[in-house]
Amino acid sequence: MARASAKPRKPVAADDLGGALLAWWDRHRRVLPWRAPPGRTADPYAVWLSEIMLQQTTVASVTGYFSKFMTRWPSVEALAKAPLEDVLVAWAGLGYYARARNLHACAKIVAEKHGGRFPSSEAQLLGLPGVGPYTAAAVAAIAFNQPCVARDGNVERVVARLFAVAEPLPGARAAISAHAASFLPRERPGDFAQALMDLGATICAPRAPECGRCPLEPSCAARRAGTQLSFPVKPPKAARPHRRGAVFVLRRGDRVLLRGRPPEGLLGGMSEFPSTPLTLDVEPGAARAYAPIEARWREIEGGVRHVFTHFSLDLTVFVAEAAAADPALEGRWTKAADLGVEALPTLMRKVAVHAGLILA
Ligand code: ADE
Repeated sequence: MARASAKPRKPVAADDLGGALLAWWDRHRRVLPWRAPPGRTADPYAVWLSEIMLQQTTVASVTGYFSKFMTRWPSVEALAKAPLEDVLVAWAGLGYYARARNLHACAKIVAEKHGGRFPSSEAQLLGLPGVGPYTAAAVAAIAFNQPCVARDGNVERVVARLFAVAEPLPGARAAISAHAASFLPRERPGDFAQALMDLGATICAPRAPECGRCPLEPSCAARRAGTQLSFPVKPPKAARPHRRGAVFVLRRGDRVLLRGRPPEGLLGGMSEFPSTPLTLDVEPGAARAYAPIEARWREIEGGVRHVFTHFSLDLTVFVAEAAAADPALEGRWTKAADLGVEALPTLMRKVAVHAGLILA
């Protein structure tokens, strides 16, 4: 028998957008390791840890790290007691190492100043290291059921489409939050926050939204006008600057020279091979002046390219053999075979691979 053609769905009453969203989420919620089972409130430590990890990273790349951290440090007190270096090593690969340093600083404050309990208000959470407006709202909503709007990129897209918010980002953010608050169901703010995230991640996708499966489709202003892909309206794009530099891999027998980066700033506190300052554009001809010692530096053809949030970088890789340890050299001689367990940022891992020290 032929199927009846799909009937247009009735618009959801403005005051029941929240109900429609939650009804969908109750059937389609994603099972994620930091989430409590339906009807339960999640462990604030797990919620906070997951939200810090998820900043600018995907759910798929976080789940393994999350489980590793929860097994090794099952409570905020355990994490607070861990040496920072261990936390940085466990974090390596997630990027943005300032986040790992803040994670540890925040755990210490919660353990030592708040008796091991996360504060429940958005305002108090905002005072903790590494906790910005999004994370404070997400933790307050998900772990403490506070009526807060956690506005990340997914939520911005869903709400900007639903209400066809014409103003470009970032100016549109206040209006987007106000629209989201207008249909936040008072009795389930934590579920609402996660439902919006899930809808954005699974249905209201950036390039190919599956509007036919969306519980809010009947009320979506952008869908009605066929303009889903125009929202959220983006600001004009600023070009990402490009920098050049060099990195110096100094070997001595089975060891290689590493040094620590300054605690603040780009790749703060991580280990690196000596390099030109990564905040400068150093043209190839000028790079050798930054070598840690005079030696027979040999350039390894090809170089390493890396893209940071705010700039892209091309590094020339030089390698030399040190005759003997020079006491003036800053850094530590690390066994090349141990590089795999060093807290090396991805950029320096690429250098180690390019120099043939570790396998890709
Ligand atoms: N992205 C950021 N936080 C999330 C969460 N709690 N659940 C799913 N996706 C997320």
